[in-house]
Amino acid sequence: MTSETDLQAQIDLLQNRISELEGQMNARPFIADIKFQERLDREAFFYKVFRALSFNAIKGDYVEFGCHGGTTFSLAYHSAQLHKHKAHLWAFDSFQGFPKQRDEEDDHPKWVEGRMSTSLQKFTDLCDERGLPRDAYTVVPGFYSDSLPALKQDEAPDNIALVYIDCDLYSSTQDVLKFLQPRLKHGMVIALDDYYCWSESQAAGERVALEEFMEENPGWELIPYLQFGWHGLAFVLHSKDVKAVR
Ligand SMILES: C[S@@+](CC[C@H](N)C(=O)[O-])C[C@H]1O[C@@H](n2cnc3c(N)ncnc32)[C@H](O)[C@@H]1O
Repeated sequence: MTSETDLQAQIDLLQNRISELEGQMNARPFIADIKFQERLDREAFFYKVFRALSFNAIKGDYVEFGCHGGTTFSLAYHSAQLHKHKAHLWAFDSFQGFPKQRDEEDDHPKWVEGRMSTSLQKFTDLCDERGLPRDAYTVVPGFYSDSLPALKQDEAPDNIALVYIDCDLYSSTQDVLKFLQPRLKHGMVIALDDYYCWSESQAAGERVALEEFMEENPGWELIPYLQFGWHGLAFVLHSKDVKAVR
């Protein structure tokens, strides 16, 4: 049994530790942790978007392009679960990091060939750790320029509720949008994680690729929906055949 003296000693220890931590916090002028904040922003995004998809009964899969360490993938899974949305999840990534830059529009200080590489094994291990059952998702490994055109009809998602494009590069986003073109549907959400990531020499690659794609597909309209963090923007896709309320 713990005596009163022992208990008091433990309380004193804890109080000392609290004072120490308070001291550390006060010594830092700005205590926000960037990665933590970005995670919170994305978590809030997935919470809202799956709530909207469930509320509006927009059925279909979650398709992610750019999966790396599986953070957004697992956030999407848990949000879908929370809102009882039955999305099957699809993970599209090279699992070897970025490809070689193909166009001058790809120029960006962070997006260098081979960076952000997470092996397929590591990705599935991380998904296991975060509680994603293996049958909840399908992984399609490979660089998009090879993997997407090679996918057979019955190996690809055919009803998409939410697309999360986080492959950063202009050229990668071009490949993704080409693949999505025959899979567009009214009411789906298209989110671009790097809509506001530009460089000294270039406009934001994901944004440019999307704008060009929309010009080539005049039957569709993007309704700006949610900005997340300092970097991302999501749209609801409207078919111009469906009357939009303005
Ligand atoms: C910013 S990371 C994705 C981060 C991820 N959403 C997360 O939460 O950890 C970008 C990813 O895009 C992938 N990628 C970029 N271009 C690609 C391409 N053309 N083909 C396949 N994967 C690509 C990279 O391998 C990398 O894993």
